[in-house]
Amino acid sequence: MTQSDKFLLAGVVGWPVMHSRSPLMHNYWMEQQGLNGTYVPLAIKPGELDAALRAMHPLGFAGCNVTIPHKLEAMKIVDEVDEVATKIGAISCIVVREDGTLFGTNNDWLGFLGNIKQQAPDWRAEAGSIAVIGAGGGSRAVCYGLMQEGATEIRLVNRTHEKALAIAEEFNGPIRVLPWKERHDALEGAAMVVNTTSQGMDGEAALNLKLDKLSPTALAADIIYTPLETPFLSDARERGNPTVNGLGMLIHQGPPAWKRWFDVIPMVTEELREKMERSIAGG
Ligand code: ATR
Repeated sequence: MTQSDKFLLAGVVGWPVMHSRSPLMHNYWMEQQGLNGTYVPLAIKPGELDAALRAMHPLGFAGCNVTIPHKLEAMKIVDEVDEVATKIGAISCIVVREDGTLFGTNNDWLGFLGNIKQQAPDWRAEAGSIAVIGAGGGSRAVCYGLMQEGATEIRLVNRTHEKALAIAEEFNGPIRVLPWKERHDALEGAAMVVNTTSQGMDGEAALNLKLDKLSPTALAADIIYTPLETPFLSDARERGNPTVNGLGMLIHQGPPAWKRWFDVIPMVTEELREKMERSIAGG
């Protein structure tokens, strides 16, 4: 345990942001690492993001996470956007450099992969086709991660076909776009299926996806964590498929952010996951 003589500051900018579980997680790590510091929710209205981000340096912030609705706007404000964030098309993490300039990157894809690898250690991206449902920001991070990991075929389906085509074109990899109406058949022979749509989230309708053709050994993953088990995941679990929820994606994008902000890699523990699960289950 070390006690820093500096008070460490980081946070999450969003609107709304008070529902965010990020402060719980990062403040757990402050304690775990014996550091003097805090991670705060920063409720920043659209239109005030520029001023808020520019204030981080004088206030002594090491950086921040960026969430809805600022992930695209932040790209225009920061002084440098790295290649990953440019490709994914959104910023999830900002680092305040010593000279006050702002650096933007995206760790969501690392969160997705870190979660899958922890929850399903035998999983291999190249083991078979992967069906990805959805083509929004979450899907772009997932597809990027799967490609980095060596996926050989990604079957991409989205309600708005053009958005899926745009990802396939920009990513220039093993992505095959299928029409939305063929999404049920797209699961046939797949080794994994990932829901990246907002369907199944608290307050939203369930994802309309029939799992009949999914192999019983295929891994079913969701990037949603409220609820912890979406109707899609409970359907998959009930038919015997291994499942992974989205909570770990949030948790596993934390350590790469800490490395950049504080040059420390905090530990992802079972205790942390349980703490977060209790907080989410408690509403
Ligand atoms: P995020 O950044 O969280 O991925 P997003 O960019 O708004 O959010 O993407 C939401 C995804 O959920 C999209 O794939 C969206 O499909 P469209 O591109 O057709 O909008 C998908 N989605 C949202 N509502 C849906 C619905 N009712 N049925 C099917 N897909 C839906």
